[in-house]
Amino acid sequence: MILKVNSREYEVEPGLRTLIDVLREDLGLMGTKEGCGIGMCGACTVLLDGKPISSCLVLAIQVAGRDVLTIEGLSENGILHPVQAAFVEHGAFQCAYCTPGFVLSSVALLAENPSPDGTEIREYLSGNLCRCGSYENILQAVSAASLTMEPGLPREPRPDCHAAKNAARNVN
Ligand code: FES
Ligand code: FES
Repeated sequence: MILKVNSREYEVEPGLRTLIDVLREDLGLMGTKEGCGIGMCGACTVLLDGKPISSCLVLAIQVAGRDVLTIEGLSENGILHPVQAAFVEHGAFQCAYCTPGFVLSSVALLAENPSPDGTEIREYLSGNLCRCGSYENILQAVSAASLTMEPGLPREPRPDCHAAKNAARNVN
């Protein structure tokens, strides 16, 4: 099957493996992290057609031909995406294990809602957990990114990109 990741097509034989396993094992994209493995922590978040999903819950074969964006595909020519830059600027991590998931969820949030308030940010990111407790800095980073980003800057805006349903991030 063809797996399209970060605008590149890969021929893979996933069998019944999850998307995260194929990303890490076959494509060597180690930025996507596995935490709980059961859809509860958000560490494995990637964007599917611009929408956050838990890649530990999805079989790779389910996303054949669709656009997958991982953290490796976010920066461009070595320049960090504004959300990434804001996370660095605001020290929005400690161990950073949760960071790829938080960043991608935030990118999707700002694609849908360019000016979210604190409550909207918290709600949207509620499926992403940070065991280091960096939540306040993450909130500041997302707020700051929303101020610096021009409309349309998120590279995966989708008209059908709606709020992440964090409790059920599955392919639909
Ligand atoms: S690893 Fe925790 S939601 Fe996927
Ligand atoms: S920074 Fe360590 S889990 Fe979030």
